[in-house]
Amino acid sequence: MPSHYKETYASWKSAPFDFWRKAAAEIDWSVEGTEVFDAGSGPYGHWFPGWQTNTCYNCLDRHVERGRRGQPALIYDSPITGSKRAYSYEELLDKVQAFSAILQDHDVSKGDRVIIYMPMIPEAVMAMLACARIGAIHSVVFGGFAANELATRIDDATPKIIIAASCGIEPGRVIPYKPLIDKAIDVSKHKPSAVLVVQREQAPADLQNDRDFDLGAALDIAVSEGREVAPVPMEATDPLYILYTSGTTGQPKGVVRDTGGHMVALKWSMENLYGIEPGEVFWGASDVGWVVGHSYIAYGPLLHGCTSILFEGKPVGTPDAGVFWRVISEHQVAALFTAPTAFRAIRKEDPQGKLMADYEMHQFRALFLAGERADPDTVNWAAETLKIPVIDHWWQTETGWCIVGNPMGLGLLPVKPGSPTVPMPGYDVQIVDDSGAPLPENTLGNIVIKLPLPPGSLPTLWNAEDRFHEAYLADFPGFYKTSDAGILDEDGYLSIMSRTDDIINVAGHRLSTGAMEEVLAGHPDVAECAVIGIADKLKGQLPCGFAVLKSGVNRPPEEIEKELVQRVRQEIGPVAAFKIAITVERLPKTRSGKILRATMRQIADSQEVKLPPTIDDPAILDEIAEALASHGILSRS
Ligand code: COA
Ligand code: AMP
Repeated sequence: MPSHYKETYASWKSAPFDFWRKAAAEIDWSVEGTEVFDAGSGPYGHWFPGWQTNTCYNCLDRHVERGRRGQPALIYDSPITGSKRAYSYEELLDKVQAFSAILQDHDVSKGDRVIIYMPMIPEAVMAMLACARIGAIHSVVFGGFAANELATRIDDATPKIIIAASCGIEPGRVIPYKPLIDKAIDVSKHKPSAVLVVQREQAPADLQNDRDFDLGAALDIAVSEGREVAPVPMEATDPLYILYTSGTTGQPKGVVRDTGGHMVALKWSMENLYGIEPGEVFWGASDVGWVVGHSYIAYGPLLHGCTSILFEGKPVGTPDAGVFWRVISEHQVAALFTAPTAFRAIRKEDPQGKLMADYEMHQFRALFLAGERADPDTVNWAAETLKIPVIDHWWQTETGWCIVGNPMGLGLLPVKPGSPTVPMPGYDVQIVDDSGAPLPENTLGNIVIKLPLPPGSLPTLWNAEDRFHEAYLADFPGFYKTSDAGILDEDGYLSIMSRTDDIINVAGHRLSTGAMEEVLAGHPDVAECAVIGIADKLKGQLPCGFAVLKSGVNRPPEEIEKELVQRVRQEIGPVAAFKIAITVERLPKTRSGKILRATMRQIADSQEVKLPPTIDDPAILDEIAEALASHGILSRS
């Protein structure tokens, strides 16, 4: 099919508000406003002011009313527990209404915040939709974060209640969630009034505290009573959810997603970017705790009338590297969206793709990758093995959907290896130098997006408008700063080269090295420290911490290194994958005292070391190299 990308992008550029008004016709509104965009409110404006709608209604009710009653809405496939279960649109609506009724029983209403701390079980998606139905603002916290991180989010979002499961399950271990929640509530200043817990047989929780409730039992009763709750009309500009993401400090940023623009953008993307028809099966192999899970496990596929897969497992080891092919074949998946690291893991276990031979996957049309750099090696391997288009696309928690991609629905453009292709309508992507001056084609610089951001992107940060301004808008007036650096070529193709801040990407998970440094610095024996992201063949990057000990500390360094690893695991969580801590005598610095993290990274990655002219003492670089070698890091590459 010839690509309609150019005309589509041009039509957006020449009349952006008409473009989004037309896209908005795909959503059911209870009130349609006159304006599409209000430039005068919020830090840069708001989409669909005066329009009213309900996200849960658009995800469920309207499909039940219009012929999708019996179609599976959600298929839960959990190789880690050996269970599977499909929910039709009608059944999911019944469950979500019952869930909404329980939230109301706990006095949760429009505008209240609800934290959801759950593994990949159907109740997690139901909880999100139930909140949306009654206008409560959910904030899902990824299960791999520790109690401290949960506490930070509790204090920032001040939720009325927490919805949780009794445990998460990782290969080889069950993680009881309730003790983590109790600890988080103990240390947080804000105290939620109730914790609703889905009891899982692998580790039921002790519900002794009088704020704890058995959610599964309550749901069974509410469903059997057929409790119904009408969707609450919401302003398009009302928040649907808050999703915390790593910032440059230990304090995560509460990305706000609004109600109306979010639906308009996701619905547009399902058809035009992913090329999916209503009724088809879409699989976002991520986690509901990440933005991909919000947009393309929960909301996008349901808004579009698709069947969404909720997969509780890993690409390898549950039970093997053929599990993705099993799920694709068994549930007739048309498109899969995951992080490149998942494919690196599969390739490592099954380089010839032999396990694929057991499965029939004729309906599988495309693989979409995002969340981290898609290395051409992995992309080529996937394309050759699967013999379907493998499409890299670039986006961020902040934008909620793709900034730069190759739109399958509009007709694919030629692929340039290493580039996620071209900007989607809504995004005017430019490359500028540090002063904001535009740079010529093929020149590396800051990637910025001309304001306003399109529907679906964050209007602000939760309770932190100043921080929003400072983090995203202040450096390049009139533009949104992505904090990614890259190059636009003569055909308008973008390549993402690196972050311009301290964020690293570990197995598709976004982490702040600054936050890890805060944890290391809190160790009583540490005088100063630095954490860098070093290249890793499987996870893309791995955090590596260096610590200088206080004078007078004479405990064995290995003992302190172990404590540092344990400390990050305990304070940030296992997801940080922080396993390398190295004690050193000194850190390399500039003469003004700035730690040379980039130079340390070049050494760790065995790259050419560009000696900064302002370096204070170059001999320290040799000490760093020796320390890395003695910990087996330099010998890896
Ligand atoms: N709850 C508790 N712990 C969790 C967790 C969760 N939800 N998710 C991950 N962890 C733990 C892991 O068990 C691991 O613990 P360990 O140090 O005891 O082994 C640690 O956090 C690091 O996890 P991860 O980086 O995911 O490594 P892994 O070795 O378990 O798995 C991959 C590697 C590549 C298989 C896995 O990262 C993967 O499937 N990635 C897909 C990426 C993805 O979904 N990205 C989301 C954005 S699209
Ligand atoms: P997150 O907010 O967790 O989705 O992480 C967003 C960051 O991940 C981006 O700012 C990029 O640094 C990186 N990223 C996401 N997708 C891609 C991609 N396709 N190519 C390169 N980097 C990516």
